[in-house]
Amino acid sequence: MSWITEIARPDIQALAPYQHAVWEPGLVRLHANELPWRAAADGSEAGLNRYPEPHPQALAGRLALHYLVNADAVLPCRGSDEAIDLLTRCYARCGRDAVVITPPTFGMYALCARVQGAAVIEVPLRRESGYGVDVPALLKAVTSAVKLVYLCSPNNPTGNRIDRATVLALAGALAGRALLVIDEAYVEFSGAPSLSADLQALPGLVVLRTLSKAHGLAGARCGAVLADPQIIALLRRVIQPYAVTQLTIEAVFRALEPAALDEARARVSLVISERTRLAAALAARSTVRHVWPSAANFLLVEFADAGAALQRCHAAGLLVRDLRHLPSLGQSLRLSIGTAEQNDRLLQALP
Ligand SMILES: Cc1ncc(COP(=O)(O)O)c(C=O)c1O
Repeated sequence: MSWITEIARPDIQALAPYQHAVWEPGLVRLHANELPWRAAADGSEAGLNRYPEPHPQALAGRLALHYLVNADAVLPCRGSDEAIDLLTRCYARCGRDAVVITPPTFGMYALCARVQGAAVIEVPLRRESGYGVDVPALLKAVTSAVKLVYLCSPNNPTGNRIDRATVLALAGALAGRALLVIDEAYVEFSGAPSLSADLQALPGLVVLRTLSKAHGLAGARCGAVLADPQIIALLRRVIQPYAVTQLTIEAVFRALEPAALDEARARVSLVISERTRLAAALAARSTVRHVWPSAANFLLVEFADAGAALQRCHAAGLLVRDLRHLPSLGQSLRLSIGTAEQNDRLLQALP
């Protein structure tokens, strides 16, 4: 066992995995207490009367091809939300361990830690450097209680990317102490390559990917942990069997067909060009204080009066995200990039 699993909760290391029903799809299934007939409205390929594969290996293999890693380095899960939950439950002991987050950032890292009873240590991003990571402060914050350090790149809600050199330097500095988890939910919109290419060299690096954003499958709930096979094996002990539903497995296989991937790439390009158009149009307005550069499918925009902007959007039937409650974001709203027509409506509605 190496340090990447030695720092996990000892009770999880010792846990005997749940013995699920044997998976032999070629045989008649009289072993899982299922109904032998499909429901009338069942439009799935495999039949929803049957449990899906408990730990979907074929899906892991397909995701591995897509993300350019080995199949044993992939854990398919119910969105990256579940990945964050699994990592927290496997690594952070209640009342003893801690995670480091870099606010303003995605809320699930702190939420999962608090549900687990782990401490949350905040190392704020530096607004003055375009929400860059404060590397010295972060390294100082990593006490022996810290098991997970989360970075989000591109970051939600600020939209900026963390450069590869910073991530690699941090992963090196944290080796032997804590896992460095890079959430790449929006990486497809950034034009930058995924850090999954660095997994083999840096066993303490964990990359989170999702089908929710660039592939348009938020409703299907599918994400993936990409990590050293020892970490994947540990998380598999804790993930629920059948976590990824049959409908989702089938939807992901369809989304990774060549034609669907071409379409996804075209839509990502469209989002990027609309992002540029929206950013330029907003930056020209006197009611807008700042449009932060974005490598994601949203813009962080500071208004002179975010409350008024929010009200006008709502009156026009448009929902945008109010971020005024977050420290350091002041009068900010987060605007997801929609279709050209939706973005026009947004531009018309905003002051
Ligand atoms: C940075 C980040 N990570 C993860 C998620 C959750 O993604 P998923 O739909 O895969 O659970 C989101 C959702 O908005 C996000 O912004």
